[in-house]
Amino acid sequence: MEDKVDYFGAENPIFADKELLQISHLPRDDARIIGRDDQLQNLGSALRPALTGNTPNNVFIYGKTGTGKSLCSKFITQRVIDRADQNDVNVGFAYVDCLQDPTETQAVQTAAEQLNNSKVTGMTIPETGLATSVFYKRLWKAIDAQYDVAIIILDEVDKLGDDNILMQLSRANESGKLSNAKLATIGISNKIRYKEELTERVKSSLCERDYVFPPYDATQLREILVSRSDAFADGVLDDSVIPRVSALAAREHGDARKAIDILRFAGEIAEDEGDETVRERHVEQAQRREEQNRLSELIAESPVHARYILLALAFRVQQDPDPDAMIPNNDVFGTYRHICEQEGSDPLKERRLRDILSELEFLSIIEQERRGRGRGKGIWNVNRLVDDPELVIEACRIAKDE
Ligand SMILES: Nc1ncnc2c1ncn2[C@@H]1O[C@H](COP(=O)(O)OP(=O)(O)O)[C@@H](O)[C@H]1O
Ligand SMILES: [Mg+2]
Repeated sequence: MEDKVDYFGAENPIFADKELLQISHLPRDDARIIGRDDQLQNLGSALRPALTGNTPNNVFIYGKTGTGKSLCSKFITQRVIDRADQNDVNVGFAYVDCLQDPTETQAVQTAAEQLNNSKVTGMTIPETGLATSVFYKRLWKAIDAQYDVAIIILDEVDKLGDDNILMQLSRANESGKLSNAKLATIGISNKIRYKEELTERVKSSLCERDYVFPPYDATQLREILVSRSDAFADGVLDDSVIPRVSALAAREHGDARKAIDILRFAGEIAEDEGDETVRERHVEQAQRREEQNRLSELIAESPVHARYILLALAFRVQQDPDPDAMIPNNDVFGTYRHICEQEGSDPLKERRLRDILSELEFLSIIEQERRGRGRGKGIWNVNRLVDDPELVIEACRIAKDE
């Protein structure tokens, strides 16, 4: 029977292949990876020994979000697997997102599960119920039984509670955990200071090679978006849209994730409104949606005291008649202590608070400047929010409810 009402709307006229705008989409050929030639070359040279079955270097990659760290690591690993295969070298690969698997046990379980083929090893990797040390044993066994070389990517490593797994993986070759196979670990972090938090032993073994991924400029962002524009049906994208999105994403820091998200949201908004063309005004709305999304995500991942600090700054900015007010650290700390009192939580020491502010700056949630009081009177930091205070307060509220 035909429904009288069309519940589903018209056939999707905006998108031809929306998959191209998913963040997890992996471009198939390297022509679609823009502006990362040097980084791919560096990664390639660090992993080159794997092509002949030798021990590749461990790698540590850091840089702001949306600079292509996850993409380039997965891409190069896939290339290693293909090239090694031509030499009859069997390379295994696991990708662990430490945000999803933040404990040592979960992370090692995931790595083992991905690398293990029970038909070959006759061994299973259950979801839970084994001691961490048993998961490790099965991981080593799976690698030794099946591969010449294994590559394990630990993405967002700073989300791990401790660096035990980094210690285990990055030293697996020299500690004799593996009898035949070789292992390389690629650690990825958005936090620039993460390396300083590592113990010396882990630092020296994990960071055999370390690479910084710099932000993209507006031209590179534009190229990245153009290479994804097949996502849209022919003629749907107004000419102004991609330049506008690239300019917006380049303004804060050159974040490709942000650019792709805004472009996808703009398409979705046009679709919801029944428009046949994606226009600049959809981009404006899409930008707000992206900001709200990104902030809520970042804040949800931040420790609770980072949230209090951010709220304190947002309240201060809101109270200030100047919309671009720069708020001194001490004022932020004062309001922060009130918030802690209300929440029944002990305030952190100022040193730790200053660290949190620098982390928030690194995440591009705030901007900081140093001010001097004149000779002999010391210097102090002032802080500004990148987004509207209302947006930040709302995002903190959402994070709290989750
Ligand atoms: N150089 C690039 N060329 C094409 N797409 C890119 C490039 N860099 C990043 N992207 C895309 O932008 C999004 C974010 O990149 P990602 O690798 O997740 O960044 P990071 O891991 O540094 O946060 C992904 O969808 C990715 O495919
Ligand atoms: Mg990433």
